[in-house]
Amino acid sequence: MKSTRINNLFLKYLKKRYGYINVRQYMPSNELNFQYYVGTDVQRGKTVFIKMYGNLPEVARREALLLQLLERRTRSKYFPKLLAYNVKGKYPFVVLEYVQEATSLETCLSERKIQSQHNKRQLLRQMNDILQILHKNKIIHRDIRPANLLVRRGKDGKQMELVLIDFAFSVLKHPSHVQELAFLKSRRDILEALGEKSYKPSAFKWDDAYSFCKIAKEIDSQSQKNFPNEWRQLNSSIGKVVYASKS
Ligand SMILES: Nc1ncnc2c1ncn2[C@@H]1O[C@H](COP(=O)(O)OP(=O)(O)OP(=O)(O)O)[C@@H](O)[C@H]1O
Ligand SMILES: [Mg+2]
Repeated sequence: MKSTRINNLFLKYLKKRYGYINVRQYMPSNELNFQYYVGTDVQRGKTVFIKMYGNLPEVARREALLLQLLERRTRSKYFPKLLAYNVKGKYPFVVLEYVQEATSLETCLSERKIQSQHNKRQLLRQMNDILQILHKNKIIHRDIRPANLLVRRGKDGKQMELVLIDFAFSVLKHPSHVQELAFLKSRRDILEALGEKSYKPSAFKWDDAYSFCKIAKEIDSQSQKNFPNEWRQLNSSIGKVVYASKS
């Protein structure tokens, strides 16, 4: 009951303050009580994705900060656009451009939608592009896995374009104050689950290049042989920008 009331107040606030209408739940809240909505931005006539971080404003701040930084420095199509955010009020949230007609890479893989050599190579190349951007900006995403990569079909339906989402738990190697989120210092269980075991070198160490190599193997178990250049580039980046958590 309580959370429904909070949700209704939040939705009213979004409509009044930002003009978002027809806001509805996108998926159930997670264990940290993050809430997910989609709605319509009347002024722009566009669909928006809204993520609300319950009582963890520092997580909202982290997501907004990283997306802003990437937008400012790269203007890349590989990341969702941040349209609005508020991390100071009762409801810490970010509003993102809704990535239209996208499926998660996780779904694409389980439904065996990535068949052509062209698409496989294209995805490996884009993963390399994304990794380069992250490394250049000293960002460690920490949650690179197929569920956090959206695949958008290009205009002709044949192309596949990746969008990397979910910078909520990212860290920046520089400046040093953008490091571990305060609440995670006492939540080793969440840290241990972050990035999923099979996509990281060890329980408390994150290496985005390592994660992308694992994904490249899921796209094509023979990636090394079939796409030697793309594979080499990914593989040689392992160990270059890593983040380890001290206990
Ligand atoms: N900008 C967007 N456009 C379209 N869909 C999105 C967008 N951002 C997120 N989603 C969808 O919402 C889901 C959850 O978003 P996100 O990964 O950022 O949150 P999360 O709290 O990490 O959730 P999870 O624990 O499921 O990964 C994504 O898997 C994706 O399906
Ligand atoms: Mg996610």
